[in-house]
Amino acid sequence: MRVLVVGGGGREHALVWKLAQSRHVDRIYCAPGNAGIARLAECINLQATDISGLANFASAENIDLTVIGPEASLIAGIVDRFEARGLRAFGPSTDPARIEGSKGFAKELMVRYGIPTAPYRICGDAESAHDAVRRHYAAHPEPGFRIVIKADGLAAGKGVTVATSEEEAHETIEAMMVRRVFGEAGDRVLIEECLDGHEVSVMAITDGETVVPLAPAKDHKRVRDGDQGPNTGGMGAYSPVPTLPDTIVRDALELVLKPAISAIRDLGIPYKGVLYAGLMVTSEGIKALEFNCRFGDPETQVVLPLMEADLFEVMDAAVNGRLDEIDLAVSDQAAVCVVATAGGYPGEYETGLEIQGLDRAAQLESCTVFHAGTRECDGRICTAGGRVLGVTAVGKDLSAASSAAYMAIDQIQFAGMHYRRDIGG
Ligand code: AMP
Ligand code: GLY
Repeated sequence: MRVLVVGGGGREHALVWKLAQSRHVDRIYCAPGNAGIARLAECINLQATDISGLANFASAENIDLTVIGPEASLIAGIVDRFEARGLRAFGPSTDPARIEGSKGFAKELMVRYGIPTAPYRICGDAESAHDAVRRHYAAHPEPGFRIVIKADGLAAGKGVTVATSEEEAHETIEAMMVRRVFGEAGDRVLIEECLDGHEVSVMAITDGETVVPLAPAKDHKRVRDGDQGPNTGGMGAYSPVPTLPDTIVRDALELVLKPAISAIRDLGIPYKGVLYAGLMVTSEGIKALEFNCRFGDPETQVVLPLMEADLFEVMDAAVNGRLDEIDLAVSDQAAVCVVATAGGYPGEYETGLEIQGLDRAAQLESCTVFHAGTRECDGRICTAGGRVLGVTAVGKDLSAASSAAYMAIDQIQFAGMHYRRDIGG
C-alpha cells in the first residue's frame, strides 16, 4: 500500500513512524514533512493546506490512503475534496470537523446531547460579553475568582484565556473582539465557568459507528516547569495517567466520545477519523473542555508507541466502516515525550540553528526522537520552528520512561534549546 501523510510536525513524524511498521505499507510520502520524517518517507514539497496540489499528487501517485494531521486542512475540507475525486482519506469531512473549528458548535452539541461540560454563554458582540463578565463577577466578588474566555474559531491553540480577575476578563474581550488579535476567530466568544480538577486527553478512532478509545494521555501546555509561564502547543506528554481513576477511559467513552459521535451522525454526516476529547476530571466526575478533530500533538508521540495494533489496519478499517472487526491492543508499558523548543518560544525565536547529538540520542534503547520543526541545511539538521523535537521513551512505568527520555534529550544540543524538566514525574 502507498500512504500519504499530510503535515510536518512531531505528530506526523509519529504517524509516519508507526505506519512504517505496518506489514501492509510499502511506501510512505509526507507533505511537507521534516528532516526526521525524511528518513522514513519521501517528503513532498506541498503545504498541508494546498488541497488541490495534494489531491493531484495522491491521484497521480495512486495513493491508497491519505492520513491528515493538521486541523486546518480538515476544517478547510480536504477529506471532502479527496472523496469527491475517489481518493481515500483518514479524517472527518468539513462538516463534522466543526467540532474543533467552532467552540460554539461543540458546546451547543454537548448541551443538546447531555455531554457534561462547564456552563457557558456565547456572545456575538463585545458589549454583551462585557456584560456577561460583569454579571459573573457581581455574583462572585471573591478575590481570584476565575472565568474562561474562548474565541469561537481556530486561533492556533492560543484562543483560550483563564482570567483570574474581572479586569483581565474585560481586557481579553477587548483583545479578541475589538482589536481582533485572532481575526474573525474572535468575532464570537464563549464565557465559561472555570472548572477545577485534573486534565487528561482521550482520543478515539471511529468509523462513525464503532468508537475505539486509545490510551489516555496527559499534555503539559505551559512553557516552564511546575506549569508556569505562557501556554504553548505542548511541552511534553505521558501515557497512561496512573493518578486518575481506572474508570477514566470508560467514562470518556460512554459520557463524552460515544455521545458526540452519535450526535454528529444525527446531524447527517458521520464522523470518521480521530476524535480528541480534552477532559477535566472534577470532584463531580469528568467534564469535556474541548474537542479536536485530529490526533493531539504531542499526545500522539506517546500514544502510538504504546499501540500494539497495526495502525494502517486500524485506519483502513475506520475508512471502510469496519472498525468493529479491529482489536486495538495496547501495551501495558508507559511512554513519556519531552519536547525541546527554540529559546524564546512561544514568543519570538530563531531558526536555522544546527542540532547536535541526534544520533547519540536515537541509539539509546526504547527511545525515539520525533522531529517537529527541523529541516536539512547543507547536510546538517537545523531548527525550523518553535517546537523542534519530541524525545519519546517507553519503559515499564512512567518513572523508567521519564528517566530514559531525559537521558536521551540530554544528548542533544542546539543554541538556546529549552525543555521542561518535570514531564512524567
Ligand atoms: P481548550 O482549547 O478549550 O482545551 O482550552 C485550552 C486550555 O484552557 C485547556 O487545556 C484548559 O487548561 C483550559 N480550560 C479550557 N476550558 C476550561 C474551563 N472551563 N475551566 C478550566 N480550564 C479550562
Ligand atoms: N496537545 C493539545 C493538542 O494537540 O491540541
